[in-house]
Amino acid sequence: MAARRGSATPKPLKVDHPWFSRGYVRTEAAVERAVGEARRAQNVAARGRTLIVGAGTGLDVPALGPGATDVVLLEPDATMRDVLVRRYPTLRVVGEPAEAMPLERGSMDTVISSLVLCSVADLRQVLEEIARVLGGGGQYLFLEHVANPRWPAGAIQRAMDPLWNRMGGGCHLTRDVVQAIAESPLQLDGLEPVHRGGLLPIVRGRATAHRTDVGQATGAIRGSHNQEEGSPP
Ligand SMILES: C[S@@+](CC[C@H](N)C(=O)[O-])C[C@H]1O[C@@H](n2cnc3c(N)ncnc32)[C@H](O)[C@@H]1O
Repeated sequence: MAARRGSATPKPLKVDHPWFSRGYVRTEAAVERAVGEARRAQNVAARGRTLIVGAGTGLDVPALGPGATDVVLLEPDATMRDVLVRRYPTLRVVGEPAEAMPLERGSMDTVISSLVLCSVADLRQVLEEIARVLGGGGQYLFLEHVANPRWPAGAIQRAMDPLWNRMGGGCHLTRDVVQAIAESPLQLDGLEPVHRGGLLPIVRGRATAHRTDVGQATGAIRGSHNQEEGSPP
């Protein structure tokens, strides 16, 4: 995203949480204990040209099934990106935020996000971008934590959110991610709980891009922010 919609003076969006990102590397084992199985179940369904949005330290990559090709990792945070480039030197890494992806319309067959929509600056814009890069027919696979509508968990989430957001690299506990997907140009095709209840309920699901006014798919990458390019895994 260059700026909030309607703004006269677009400001570049900067995602820069070095302290959080260094800590994330150290908590990977705990993250995978919580969501590793769901991540593998999600990513095995990746097909064709595959974009991982907010790739972080790259935990989604080894979980990809053999159908994923031409894997692109999008990660705007420089600290996370350094880890990605080190771990996956043959993959293409793009250093832009998901609000303004330097990718052509219809250039991806699968987009994956895991634990990312909680942190993006403009959720609606990100979902529009995902639909745009997918074009008609592509699939969006997501594994995300969501707001808990129940009392008292929801109230505790709301009370904790400001501090959580500061400590958690911009993460929000209170986002109604599923509702946002339902209101986006994507069509929600499937949804299942991974962890129910509590402060971090997690869902995984699939949506498809159903707009018919997509342009010609080119497979090309716009812009010149790639740290590394290479062959798929
Ligand atoms: C909790 S981490 C999850 C990382 C990884 N997806 C995983 O499952 O381990 C959240 C990630 O979202 C990224 N992120 C935050 N804002 C973003 C944005 N606007 N566009 C793309 N990625 C973003 C962060 O840099 C971070 O890598």
